[in-house]
Amino acid sequence: MRLDRYLANLKYGTRNEITKKIKSKKVTVNGIVVTDSRYKVDTINDLVILEGIEIFYKETVLLMVHKPAGVISANKDGLHETVLDLIGEPYNRFDLRIAGRLDIDTEGLILLTNDGKLLHKIISPNKDVYKKYYVKTESKFDSKKLLKQFEIKDGRDIMFTPLLPKVEEISDNEFYLSIKEGKFHQVKRMVEHFNNKVVYLKRVSIGNIELDKDLEKGRYKEIIEYKI
Ligand code: URA
Repeated sequence: MRLDRYLANLKYGTRNEITKKIKSKKVTVNGIVVTDSRYKVDTINDLVILEGIEIFYKETVLLMVHKPAGVISANKDGLHETVLDLIGEPYNRFDLRIAGRLDIDTEGLILLTNDGKLLHKIISPNKDVYKKYYVKTESKFDSKKLLKQFEIKDGRDIMFTPLLPKVEEISDNEFYLSIKEGKFHQVKRMVEHFNNKVVYLKRVSIGNIELDKDLEKGRYKEIIEYKI
């Protein structure tokens, strides 16, 4: 990849600003000053340093975030802190997208990635990727009821029938629910359909990726090896 594009993609400035920095000898590749913006960087093997900063680059990045309540699943929001606000250097330089949003009061696993194909695989209901939630309801709830076919409203108030979920009972008002879709308020609406209410909701896994038990709320980590 061209050196100027490489640095611009990582938001170290506009192409023009970067070209100026390169011309003024502020960039080295493997210890040698490079003054040509068209220089082809080997993104895997080359060590690029800009004004003393070692550049971190990867084609694809996947982060696991432990979302706390009160943080919203959006890119930017004037009012609330967002999951992307939780991300610091060097990952905040990547065009990360949220692979499945959670409500403001829902906690747990959020995946962020700049890999469009992976994103599609996670959020597409037809890809057999279950999203597993720990659910606590206001009163006693027989979670097996959720295994019958029934209709709820989606985010646009259009009725839809959720694909067959999986349930694991924990107690008379707690259970795990695994669903394939991620419609707006889906778990809450599935429970409300049976005249009960979700009082606590936490996503614990997405496909084979489980929320790391040692990852504190508000923290994140890169996932290097994974199978969805
Ligand atoms: N279902 C909900 O109702 N809320 C979430 O945040 C996720 C799934």
